[in-house]
Amino acid sequence: MQTYRAVHLVARPQQEITADVFTLATANIPEPQEGEFLIKVTHLSLDPAMRGWMSADENSYIPPVKLGDVMRASGVGEVVASRHPDYPEGTRVMGLTGMQEYLISNGAGMNKVPQGLPTEAVLAVISLPGVTAYHGLFEVLHPESGQTLVITAAAGSVGSLVGQMAKNQGVRVVGVVGNEEKARWITEELGFDAALNYREQDFAKQLAIATPDGIDLFFENTGGVAQGPIFARMNAHGRIAVCGLIAEYNKEQPDPGPSWINIIKRRLSIQGFTMPDHFDRFAEYGQALGEMLVKGELKYRTHMISGIENAPDAIKLLFSGDNQGKLIVQL
Ligand SMILES: NC(=O)c1ccc[n+]([C@@H]2O[C@H](COP(=O)([O-])OP(=O)(O)OC[C@H]3O[C@@H](n4cnc5c(N)ncnc54)[C@H](OP(=O)(O)O)[C@@H]3O)[C@@H](O)[C@H]2O)c1
Repeated sequence: MQTYRAVHLVARPQQEITADVFTLATANIPEPQEGEFLIKVTHLSLDPAMRGWMSADENSYIPPVKLGDVMRASGVGEVVASRHPDYPEGTRVMGLTGMQEYLISNGAGMNKVPQGLPTEAVLAVISLPGVTAYHGLFEVLHPESGQTLVITAAAGSVGSLVGQMAKNQGVRVVGVVGNEEKARWITEELGFDAALNYREQDFAKQLAIATPDGIDLFFENTGGVAQGPIFARMNAHGRIAVCGLIAEYNKEQPDPGPSWINIIKRRLSIQGFTMPDHFDRFAEYGQALGEMLVKGELKYRTHMISGIENAPDAIKLLFSGDNQGKLIVQL
């Protein structure tokens, strides 16, 4: 009997993700029963949210992964055996596959991959990063031409798409990144108006120069040292979409936030959001993103890792900032 490998969560990280929280197990490839099909996973998406799913917090938007279970992850795969009329062999599917090489599905939670798109584009644009960018920009921030938008983790999977879509709306876009290569990519390749490195000592001064008319819109992906100076430059009636706080995910205690006084003085709107609340909009957002992609309005880049055995370690790249684009594991 043929076997496959799966990554199981066996301990909860205290702060940074360490090797001992995962184990790589081998099992026999199962046979699909009536109404089921067997998926061979070809690509896994590694996302910052996985750090939250490893924690014991029962009060988040999704339950934690149970100790001993296969680690939750989204992925793309191909149906290689089927007893389901709607999913014949050869169908490409995407969904929460888990960090494993094979799985059985009855179709629940799985979507068919649109024809004609490379898998990298599917994972980088029309799945989680793209729908998050689309929802946060258009449903939370509601950009208007002439406004100034600041995005943190601006060269990342979500941030890079937010910035490109906002530019198409006539918005001035300033991206905050952690190194010079990313700063060059978002300005020279993606057309952002300015890029700032939050690691620079004079970040607040550079931010003031890059946002001479203040900040109307803030797409927050990180928290950390950039948050205070950006918050301080928000204009009256500014809007903040709180998408992610990756700078805090590995910390036992959250960073102290800015004083709330400016929420009153500047009449700010601050809204957190998570995409599992909006699954019903995924098809609509995916369609819009696919059209932008085909028209050449969205560029993306991927950071490819090879082999499931390297997936656990690769998650750490998201936290060091060493990923250059959407982090994907090819199996
Ligand atoms: N709300 C939702 O439903 C939803 C959905 C998807 C993603 N998200 C959130 O969106 C954010 C971006 O996700 P992504 O998938 O696009 O990841 P990503 O931006 O492709 O990768 C993460 C990036 O975060 C930056 N970073 C890491 N640690 C940092 C720190 N301490 N301070 C400042 N920046 C740091 C790094 O970029 P630099 O090199 O520039 O530092 C790193 O490359 C994450 O916070 C994620 O949790 C939320």
